[in-house]
Amino acid sequence: MLHSNLSVNELGHLTIGGLDAVDLARQFGTPAYIIDEDMVRENCRVYRRAMTAHFGSDAYPLYASKALCFTAIYRIAAEEGLGIDCVSGGELYTAKAAGFPAERICFHGNNKTDRDLADALEMGVGRIVVDNRDELHALSAMAAAQGKVQQILLRITPGIDPHTHRAISTGSVDSKFGTAIETGQAKAIVAEAMALPGIDPVGLHCHIGSQIFEIDPFVDAARIMTAFIAELKRDLGFACQVLNLGGGLAVRYTEHDPVIDYADAIGRMAAVIRGLCTENGIDMPTILLEPGRSLVAAAGTTLYTVGSFKEIPGFRRYISVDGGMPDNPRYALYNSRYTALIANRAAEEKSITATIAGRCCESGDLIGEDMPIQPAQRGDILAVLTTGAYNYSMASNYNRIPRPPVILISGGEARVAVRRETYADLVARDIG
Ligand code: LLP
Repeated sequence: MLHSNLSVNELGHLTIGGLDAVDLARQFGTPAYIIDEDMVRENCRVYRRAMTAHFGSDAYPLYASKALCFTAIYRIAAEEGLGIDCVSGGELYTAKAAGFPAERICFHGNNKTDRDLADALEMGVGRIVVDNRDELHALSAMAAAQGKVQQILLRITPGIDPHTHRAISTGSVDSKFGTAIETGQAKAIVAEAMALPGIDPVGLHCHIGSQIFEIDPFVDAARIMTAFIAELKRDLGFACQVLNLGGGLAVRYTEHDPVIDYADAIGRMAAVIRGLCTENGIDMPTILLEPGRSLVAAAGTTLYTVGSFKEIPGFRRYISVDGGMPDNPRYALYNSRYTALIANRAAEEKSITATIAGRCCESGDLIGEDMPIQPAQRGDILAVLTTGAYNYSMASNYNRIPRPPVILISGGEARVAVRRETYADLVARDIG
């Protein structure tokens, strides 16, 4: 199977973390997001151990919570000793509701509102990653007025093309994120930050993109950032204590994708970064990474019920399910590839290819096209694998479809972490 926690039992059913997927569908209804908590925890440990071993004991991963966000996941991240990356007041609020330690929060966003900044200051978040000059001045004024000194990192665009989908590439000069080295603006913003009250610029941040398979683009980013840190030290006397290299390591969505050894990737990155620091005559800063997808994607499986199996002679087959783009917009947005199977026929051969369609009123509402799968019929349970990241967190109520529940499984037990939305929830805010 694609991931180590998936198997097939004696009934020929898919199992997730040892639990029968057909039973889970029966118990919790469909569509449902099933998240293997044990696998998330193990992924957190792999990152943490590798970062401590290779970058030193002050290095640690921050979970990029935009990938999958609800209170229990913040508790899991806290218990596993991770920091978190939040990008909105809503994520901060959820983290607070979960009791996540504020000092381990890194607050992001290319356009933080005054309210966001005020919330972050009030919560006492550890670091704010400042995107641009306007935000720098707004934060400085706000913090100084409150008699606070807020630690910040400055978001830098290193000018990297990581060869991933354009919509999830973020490190090039022409980007809505950060301040570019190439234009001279990055150096200017560091100089400005050093002189302003209410803030303490402790380091730099960059994030080059997402779903990146090779470590080369990360190494390129590190090369540019370490040279920049040396330049800042020489020209401005700036001591960069923290270098946050963002997230972006890829995940295996299909059998065609390579298996990624995250510990090995971290080890290789660390070896290069150490060398770069020596070469540039700078002390090794505290290194932070911000994995999102690689911590949660593989741990997620979405279960649907098949509504129809339609064959259009000379064209293609459609399998329609009781979810679609409202719970997984990634094919519609990025043409993302997934692996699917019929959970109650998991032992059978995938003898056909089919397009898996959702139930929304538009043709683009697809989970995927030409997907190898078992022949299906109404009432079957269809599982889409690797949906832990950027599915629930990107879900919508398009066509007034309620969002599915999030079910956490751990130690052979399943529990509801987020209940299914109801029709009453959908009208609860309609007051006119
Ligand atoms: N740090 C920053 C500043 C980020 O912007 C992101 C992702 C991450 C960390 C985590 O990256 P990851 O390890 O998950 O690749 N919705 C898209 C992905 C958008 C990623 C946005 N930023 C998708 O479904 O593919």
